[in-house]
Order: sequence, then C-alpha cells, then structure tokens
Amino acid sequence: MLLGASGHTGQMVAAELVRRGQRPVLAGRSPERLATLAEALGGLSWRQADVTVASSVQELVRAYDVLISTVGPFARLGEPVVAAAIDAGATYLDSSGEPAFIRRVFEDHGPQALASGVALLPACGYDFVPGALAAAIALEQAKGAATRVDVGYFVVAGSEPMRMSNGTRNSGPGFMLGKSFAWRDGGLRAARFAERERAFAVDGYESRAVSVGGSEHLTLPTTFPQLREVNVYLGWFGSLSPALRAGSAALAPLLALPGTRAALTRLGEAAAHRTSRGKVAAPKKPSSEVNEPQTDGASRIVAIAHADDGRQVGRADLRGIEPYAFTAAFLAWAGVCALDRQVAGAGALGPLQAFGRAGLQAGCEQAGIRIA
Ligand SMILES: NC(=O)c1ccc[n+]([C@@H]2O[C@H](COP(=O)([O-])OP(=O)(O)OC[C@H]3O[C@@H](n4cnc5c(N)ncnc54)[C@H](OP(=O)(O)O)[C@@H]3O)[C@@H](O)[C@H]2O)c1
Repeated sequence: MLLGASGHTGQMVAAELVRRGQRPVLAGRSPERLATLAEALGGLSWRQADVTVASSVQELVRAYDVLISTVGPFARLGEPVVAAAIDAGATYLDSSGEPAFIRRVFEDHGPQALASGVALLPACGYDFVPGALAAAIALEQAKGAATRVDVGYFVVAGSEPMRMSNGTRNSGPGFMLGKSFAWRDGGLRAARFAERERAFAVDGYESRAVSVGGSEHLTLPTTFPQLREVNVYLGWFGSLSPALRAGSAALAPLLALPGTRAALTRLGEAAAHRTSRGKVAAPKKPSSEVNEPQTDGASRIVAIAHADDGRQVGRADLRGIEPYAFTAAFLAWAGVCALDRQVAGAGALGPLQAFGRAGLQAGCEQAGIRIA
C-alpha cells in the first residue's frame, strides 16, 4: 500500500516498486491523479484516502500489509498513518525527514508498536539512511575508540541543478522551526536547527554544513553504546551556513514564546504552499529498463569518528545519485524486504537495526549510493 502515490516522491516510489515486480495499491486524495498513474504503471489498483479522516486511513491497511507513506508534512499529517499501521498490524515505512515527527514515532509510537510486534521505519529515505551506513563504517574503523561521530550530507553541483520538490518546500518550515534534538553527553538533548556549524572536506573542497536532528541521534547509540555524542549536519546551504547558525540563535528567544513556533510554522507552510499550488507533477510513464543506479551523481555523505580527545579515528565517504532518486529506490527496496519478512525486530527501528550492517549496505548500493 503506497499512500501519497500521486506526489513527487510517491510516483517515483510507485515506479521503483513496479520495476521490482510488485503491484502496489496506490492511495491518496485525488482519484484523477491516482487513476492516471495506476493506468501508466500497468493497471494497478488504487484507493482514495485522506489522512485527515482517521477512518479513511484505517480502512486502507490490514494485518501483515506493508504501508509506505510519502504524505507530508509529516509533523502535521503523519501520525494518523502511523497509528493506523500499528492498529492494523502492518509494517510502516515513510519518507519523513522532520526531526520532531521522527522523534515522536520513536518515543510515542515505538513502545506500542513493539508491544504489538509491528515494525516502524520512519525516515527511510535519503534523510537519514545513508548517514547511518557511513557512521557505522567510520565507527568500525575506529575499533571501539570513538565516542563521537559527525555525519554530513552534501549535494555537489552536477550537470543539472537539484530542485526541491513541493513536498520538501512544504515540509521545510517544520524541519527548520520544529523542536529538534541531538545526542550529547550520552543522552538525547534539545538542540536547535543550525545550532552548530562545521566544515567537512568533500571532494577536496571545504564544505560547510549546519546541524540538524536526524534519526542517527535516535538509532546509532543503540548499535554503538559507547557513543557520547552524535552530530548530523546538512550541507545543502553551503556558504550560507554561518548566516543560518546566526539566524537560528537570533530566532531562539522568539520561538521560546508560547504559540510562536506553531504560528511561524503555519505561516511558513502557507507561504510554501502558495508558491507550489497547482504545480503537481504529471505522472510519468516509467521506463521499463532496469534502473542502473549511477554512483557518480550528486550526493556525498561523510561520517567522521572521533576519540574522546578529539582525534579523528575513522572516516567514511559515500557517493551516489541525487536524494529523491535514492529515496524512491531505497523505500521500494525496503518495502520489498518488509513484504519478504526480512525486517528484523519490532518497534521503531533505524536502518541498521532493521536490515543489519550488510543488509543496509546492500540496500544503499542497489539504490545508488556506495562507498567512495
Ligand atoms: N527524507 C527524504 O530524503 C525525503 C525525500 C523526498 C521527500 N521527502 C518528504 O516526503 C514528503 C512528500 O514529498 P513530495 O515531494 O512527494 O510531496 P508532494 O509532491 O507534495 O506529494 C505529497 C503527497 O501527499 C498527498 N497528500 C497531501 N495531503 C494529503 C492528505 N490529507 N491525505 C492523503 N494524501 C495527502 C498528496 O496528495 P494530492 O495529490 O491529493 O495533493 C501527494 O500525493 C515531504 O514531507 C518531503 O519532505 C523526504
């Protein structure tokens, strides 16, 4: 079951699932868009559903189904879908990247999912899957000597500029203004978006990046209990990173006022929605060729492991295709693994827990991101 199928990411996931021999049921709000896409993909079934109407999502899923959701902003629209998956006993995967939502899945829904034997895999796309693999490789190199790992995500200039989807723009205000966190001093602490800023060497250049809340903070310490600190950085803003850090610090007192965070997020979402209104991508007929992931595309992911005294004791570099293509291919691969009962464990899971180290590397490679 693919919810959000008519959107930018949903269409790509649907095509990737079909390439893998699956016949997903397409679900979403717009009957016209779903019918057109279902037809283009070889006559798939489709179901109308609106996540703001709880019964409409509940009717979509049954026990042992696999539910993939690409309906965002997740902080506003995501939780009824998670709840419906748990109630039905269906494996849940999503393309979320918003820290506040991801934390709620782990802390609020994870325990109930664990008790029900249901696996939840939030943030199962570019944010924040390859960072977990890069961190695991850097920490293995460190042979237990690392207590801190810094992960950086970068998009290098390619032949075509990377364009953000409507959904990414709509989710941006929640991503930047929502409550965020980091793993520091051996525990999960509140930490603002862009609270920190640092440079990484990427392809021989110094690339700047700002700190964000990622699923790595919530999942790496389970696999690597020696970690006292996990930092996740986003390099998409490049040389604007220092200004973002300053802006984040300046905005902090305002966001602490009651109601301000929610009001500013709503304003930001309304502005993003106005700029994207009506620009819905028309369904594309997918190529029947096997998707050969390019490895020299636009993404670079770096993880650096540090010892207690700050020394660098491990480093991993990954490279590969642009984020949306990776997200679609990885979600489709993960969905097929879930159908084949190859997801280990229950509760809210990170990619290392769900697929193991070797499985995660294989999943990233088939989705177009590999060790450089
Ligand atoms: N983590 C990552 O690396 C990554 C990568 C890609 C995307 N994302 C995230 O994934 C989300 C989707 O992005 P996108 O670019 O695919 O967005 P999009 O093109 O706007 O698609 C959103 C989809 O959600 C559907 N939808 C919206 N409200 C709904 C509701 N109330 N009930 C049912 N369906 C509803 C839309 O249906 P309609 O057609 O009816 O509007 C559309 O199919 C965003 O949050 C984005 O940030 C994350």
